[in-house]
Amino acid sequence: MDTRAHWDKAYTEKSETQVSWFQEVPARSLAMIAAASPHGSVIDVGGGASRLVDALLEAGRADLAVLDISQAALDRARARLGARAALVSWLCADITRWTPERTWDVWHDRAVFHFLTERPAQDAYIAALTAATEPGAAVILSTFAPDGPERCSGLPVQRYGAADLAARLGAGFVLTDQATERHVTPWGSTQQFTYAAFRRT
Ligand SMILES: C[S@@+](CC[C@H](N)C(=O)[O-])C[C@H]1O[C@@H](n2cnc3c(N)ncnc32)[C@H](O)[C@@H]1O
Repeated sequence: MDTRAHWDKAYTEKSETQVSWFQEVPARSLAMIAAASPHGSVIDVGGGASRLVDALLEAGRADLAVLDISQAALDRARARLGARAALVSWLCADITRWTPERTWDVWHDRAVFHFLTERPAQDAYIAALTAATEPGAAVILSTFAPDGPERCSGLPVQRYGAADLAARLGAGFVLTDQATERHVTPWGSTQQFTYAAFRRT
């Protein structure tokens, strides 16, 4: 099964609140975004059906985009938001094959980069990140931590600490904040996540 079909199936077979990565309130992401850029534009890469965009709208952010490979995921989020969905740019794309048409002040990614286990795909992601931001932009990445699970949604992942992410992004991105978080899935198991914030130089 290809990547798009995998994710469309995941979002079609399970409800929004039944997927392992579900968060009622993505508190750490919201705090890191607010600290990095209180009012700037935000793109949530691999945002899926996350409620991050709802919270950012409620906080008054005016310039928001959600990118995901799964149209089913984006449709879920749009349906939940109702009329407010029109305030958001919805981009259905594979991040490793995407050419942005503009730049954003904040790039946020929770649990997407870690699926890119091959170096060429990681390089393509970093090229998209670089094209979609300017120097001074904030980059917030969240992945499974070194002691986190080896798979997510049935797919193998690459696990990182903040220093590993910094090394992989390279010298053009300075680590400004980091945290680890124990995520509790809807069925009560736990997953260790790394959160890392960077400033593009
Ligand atoms: C584990 S989910 C996390 C969703 C969301 N960030 C959250 O925290 O709720 C991973 C998301 O990445 C998306 N995704 C996976 N590979 C992708 C790719 N190559 N390009 C864009 N999105 C991708 C999936 O469709 C899915 O929505």
